[in-house]
Amino acid sequence: MTRPRPVIAIDGPAGVGKSTTSRELARRLGYTLVDTGALYRGVALAARDRGISWDEEAAVVALCPQIELGFVSQDDGTPRLLLDGRDRGDDIRTPEMSSGASKVSAYPGVRRALLGIQRQLGREGGVVLEGRDIGTVVFPDALLKVYLTASVEVRAKRRAKEMTDLDYDEVAADIARRDAADAGRDDSPLATAGDAVTVDTSEMGIDEAVDALVAMVEKRSATADATETSDGH
Ligand code: DC
Repeated sequence: MTRPRPVIAIDGPAGVGKSTTSRELARRLGYTLVDTGALYRGVALAARDRGISWDEEAAVVALCPQIELGFVSQDDGTPRLLLDGRDRGDDIRTPEMSSGASKVSAYPGVRRALLGIQRQLGREGGVVLEGRDIGTVVFPDALLKVYLTASVEVRAKRRAKEMTDLDYDEVAADIARRDAADAGRDDSPLATAGDAVTVDTSEMGIDEAVDALVAMVEKRSATADATETSDGH
């Protein structure tokens, strides 16, 4: 029997370089990338499309089974969100949807609905999932769990550079607000899994971080293969 292909969990706060690092890691490994934050953004967008306020928890939760969420891969491997079969990849990337996603992701009913979708997307392995609770809740048995971190200052500087129309102070305040909301919610808060490897990217380029992660995946895969061989499987 062949061992299922690995699942790699990448968690961490907003603006830490998770998307770029995860995309590059998936590309180097030949894995599929799943951007789980996009699913929460999709719920926020679907609510707005239907005129449902993000504050109406029951209505937002009731909406989840009525919508269809999925991904289509761009040529460079970037996943774009499909909501009810339509590419809404651009519509979810707005500051408004960042704040909507932050709100709806605090609802346990929303998290429960998206848990099944995330596990389904990763069930065949050969996948990198990036989010906030992948290593702690979604795939606690992932071959490698990584917690990416960087100081608020570094993250705000990176984001302000990316989005030239945004001001540093505003970005820093927004990141600090989202960190507090992600880490402070009762259900599946942003947290480091006990067995996660913490990688601080404050002083590290993306390439350096990805090199380190590829080496970790290779080492763990080799160890898992050796264990299996010695078990006689
Ligand atoms: O990574 P992102 O900024 O696209 O995430 C959008 C929001 O969704 C963010 O506020 C955190 C939340 N989220 C979550 O609660 N759990 C995840 N696995 C991924 C994202």
